[in-house]
Amino acid sequence: MQYVTFGKTGEQVSAMCLGTMMFGDRCDEAESDRILGAALDHGVSFIDTAAMYGDGLTETILGRILKGQRERVFLATKVHKGIDARSITESIDESLTRLQVDYVDLYLIHWPVEGMRPLEVMDALHQVVRSGKARFVGCCNYPAWLLAHSNAIAERHGWPALVCNQIPYNLIERGVEVEILPQALAEQIAITVYRPLLIGLLAGKYQPGGGLPADSRAQTDPRIAAWLAKYGDSIRAFNTYAADCGLHPSQLAIAWLQHQPGVTASIVGASALVQLEPTLAAFDVDLSPEQVRAVSALFDTEVKEEAGGKFPALRRQTDLAALL
Ligand SMILES: NC(=O)c1ccc[n+]([C@@H]2O[C@H](COP(=O)([O-])OP(=O)(O)OC[C@H]3O[C@@H](n4cnc5c(N)ncnc54)[C@H](OP(=O)(O)O)[C@@H]3O)[C@@H](O)[C@H]2O)c1
Repeated sequence: MQYVTFGKTGEQVSAMCLGTMMFGDRCDEAESDRILGAALDHGVSFIDTAAMYGDGLTETILGRILKGQRERVFLATKVHKGIDARSITESIDESLTRLQVDYVDLYLIHWPVEGMRPLEVMDALHQVVRSGKARFVGCCNYPAWLLAHSNAIAERHGWPALVCNQIPYNLIERGVEVEILPQALAEQIAITVYRPLLIGLLAGKYQPGGGLPADSRAQTDPRIAAWLAKYGDSIRAFNTYAADCGLHPSQLAIAWLQHQPGVTASIVGASALVQLEPTLAAFDVDLSPEQVRAVSALFDTEVKEEAGGKFPALRRQTDLAALL
């Protein structure tokens, strides 16, 4: 397992973050325990969960199976309720109770919402850190301007800054490359990417033209069939390319992400222990620049902005400024 510095915190975490969203959903407590145990045994030290998963059940299960091993992990969870001050302070207390811990390492806003008040949010997160309930704070799904605005507020008041942004990123969803990755590099924001396997579409689980497996998230998530219809040819070519490289498709999908500038860690989900084996090995896969380009070229998914001139490209340029 590789280890990376988590943004400005100076903390070392594993490049693989174990996503627990399926704990208590598609895998029961015993299987969740086996998945967590295997991940820890292979050096994973970064765990992501959320109060919202299973409406608290995932945190409850994680609290039970993590018992006695708390100090081995960098533990992140997320605000469940609204993001006004009262919701944030109530939500962290509920999470700590379910997780059976005194503090989390990282406390995240799950989603920005319409009408939110960044000053109030940052003040509430400051209170969470000051009370020792979280060591660091961050966000998920923030556009770059909102993260910059929030951190400017924090700096003005001497409050803790948002240290990370958790964002969907994979070979098909590449919007993060516009503004967010350049900002992350310039400001040393840790980027933790979710949906790295596109919910299984980049893990060899779905065959273009074939039916949807009965035992899959496609049964409840209509995005999978839609993406399969739209990107079937690219997914077929991707699976073939992975086989030619001697890799499991999920290894190629994760290795491609880990080679993108600005990506700190990939949050990988699993609903069964057997799915974890290729995932763990993915973090040791080295791709050449030509291979990274070849994999990108299998999908016509780079964000295209039709405005003329140089501006669209600047929004994706990661080496525009001399970085620290
Ligand atoms: N902050 C946010 O807003 C946010 C949103 C979503 C997720 N997340 C985090 O990101 C984590 C990962 O998200 P995700 O689970 O949606 O995406 P993912 O990691 O791209 O997909 C995981 C799914 O891929 C399939 N899979 C994994 N390994 C496989 C293998 N070796 N062979 C075949 N299929 C395989 C499984 O599907 P089946 O279960 O169908 O077998 C599994 O549930 C979550 O656990 C959560 O911690 C955060």
